Amino acid sequence: MMWSLWRCSSMTGSSAFTNVRVFKCFRQFVKNYNISARMPEAIAFQGVSDHSGLHKFSVNESETFWGALASQRLSWISPFNTVQNCNFSQGKIKWFEGGKLNVSVNCLDRHVHTCPERVALIWERDEPGTEVKFTYRELLELTCRLGNLLKRLGVRRGDCVTLYMPSCPLAVASMLACARIGAVHNVVFAGFSAEALADRIRDTQSSTVITVNQGVRGGKVIDLKRTVDQAVQNCPSVQQVLVAMRTENSVAMTDRDVPLEEEMMKEDVVCEPVTMDSEDVLFLLYTSGSTGKPKGLVHTQAGYLLYAAVTHRYVFSYQDGDVFGCMADIGWITGHSYGVYGPLCNGGTTVLFESTPVYPDPGRYWETVQRLGISQFYGAPTAIRLLLKYGDEWVQKYDRSCLKTLGSVGEPINREAWEWYHRVVGGGRCPVIDTWWQTETGGICIAPRPSDPDAEIIPGMAMRPFYGIKPALLDAKGEVLHAHDSTGALCISMAWPGMARTIHNDHQRFIETYFQPYPGYFFTGDGAYCSKEGYYQIVGRLDDVINVSGHRLGTAELEDVVDNSVKAWKGVEVQEDVLAQQLREMVSRNIAKYASPDYIQVVGRLPKTRSGKIMRRVLRKVVERKTDDLGDLSTLDDSEAVHEVIRGHQKSM
Ligand code: WT7
Repeated sequence: MMWSLWRCSSMTGSSAFTNVRVFKCFRQFVKNYNISARMPEAIAFQGVSDHSGLHKFSVNESETFWGALASQRLSWISPFNTVQNCNFSQGKIKWFEGGKLNVSVNCLDRHVHTCPERVALIWERDEPGTEVKFTYRELLELTCRLGNLLKRLGVRRGDCVTLYMPSCPLAVASMLACARIGAVHNVVFAGFSAEALADRIRDTQSSTVITVNQGVRGGKVIDLKRTVDQAVQNCPSVQQVLVAMRTENSVAMTDRDVPLEEEMMKEDVVCEPVTMDSEDVLFLLYTSGSTGKPKGLVHTQAGYLLYAAVTHRYVFSYQDGDVFGCMADIGWITGHSYGVYGPLCNGGTTVLFESTPVYPDPGRYWETVQRLGISQFYGAPTAIRLLLKYGDEWVQKYDRSCLKTLGSVGEPINREAWEWYHRVVGGGRCPVIDTWWQTETGGICIAPRPSDPDAEIIPGMAMRPFYGIKPALLDAKGEVLHAHDSTGALCISMAWPGMARTIHNDHQRFIETYFQPYPGYFFTGDGAYCSKEGYYQIVGRLDDVINVSGHRLGTAELEDVVDNSVKAWKGVEVQEDVLAQQLREMVSRNIAKYASPDYIQVVGRLPKTRSGKIMRRVLRKVVERKTDDLGDLSTLDDSEAVHEVIRGHQKSM
């Protein structure tokens, strides 16, 4: 059988590969840099510290670099004939054209061939101590059954399937089943409202939705199927809803609904993988822009998978036997790239976390680390900030000696949180890796690693561009800032394999948003500072950067000061005007006089997205008194927070 040819090719390259040119260049590369042929492994595992040399090569000889990695790290059905074919002005991004592969084979079959009983997934369920493990063999069987079921229900290559499920093995198997049969998945975070879900289903024209009867999170039961029922009322494209049973509670089923487990068990455990082109669509993932309706970013097969796998291995120094603990839900890009595709492509063991950082108590993360033996813990600053308030005992209660690396993602990590993470959680032993990237970039673009394990990491800085990433900072006139020690719009000058290919149904918006603001560059929407040494620090969304008397001011910087000063007020009743005055002084003192805010409003909570980002554009509208035009609120976590801000603002005027 053809598939028995697939083998774990993380080191050796697949036998099917015959792209001689790439290998010739690769040998030259190895010669030039005088390091072993296991070059990419050496970066992380043999203490080779020449990050800057490797980085230079990866951007100067990008085709050689990515060509060699693609041929080594992925298993191809037939080899690609061009490494890249990209043109930013047209928004054209194509990698590894001519190549044919199947993503689920890369994530499953080749590992089943070499190490079938290795644990692929650890499902860390809401109730501590009830985790369930799935080996590669079991996950492949699950995926095949689901693939066969989807085919039986009429899902065809290119069709889009929407998933509305919490992080769980069936969700991962559903994603991989889509990949196996050539369908496109669209995971919608299972905390979104029925309206947000319906918007996304309509935009994708999905005929099939996969969900669970109920979700369980933080000890609470959430009726996910009911939300789907509401959503699909307004989605004429939907013909069937597959319902898995996460809890034992029965749920009302209609003619449209299909009991997932029951039907799946009727299917065979073998499902022939479809041969896909490198640039066929793998998935859509929606993210809200600063204006308008959410954007369905499109990621394709080979480039995305390669980039997720390579960044996973090197940014986190992931080695065989490690347990990778990404806390993000699969509904976000972090869950896609570092909960599912990166680790599985690397034959790793990945944790699917179903619970919250404070359930049943604020020790949950560290108790999980101890119980599962997590080696790389990847979390968000918002959770770290929350936990540090509960004190060190919750961490120290548990043995964290298994931890090697601590990752951070999603927003700038302020100094206090960074230091607590490093000192208390990691016991001063584990590097804190602040990773900057976006749904659009597919994988990590700026992070302190890969590099010499002893290389310097400055708290609060994302530090170094990953291989193949060439950042540029541009000023307001669109001029490149050549000197270091400057702040500007963070752009990326050349294409990399993991970047999004388009916005679903709106290529024009893709071009306008990312390629027109700074012609010749991909514009990230973020502002960044580059130090004298060439290290990067993200200062926040540019739409959040305030320009005061010609000085650029990042909200991240401001908040760092305010975060730290607010501590002084804990538990003390103060008058708002006294507090405001003190905060102004703190900001003047810690940043500059010009940075001192004119208007301060005290609120109990801020409007945040479900991923913990403050929705500043909403705050701006409130201050501009444009509350009838708040824009897209579908990612808002708690709508009451907005009303509270509006009421407070009206009172103060
Ligand atoms: C935006 C992307 C990428 C996974 C999670 C979020 C902000 C992300 C960092 C970081 C400072 C960060 C940026 C970026 N961001 N990581 N390490 N330091 N800011 O994905 O929802 O697409 O958001 O998150 O502003 O543009 P996303």
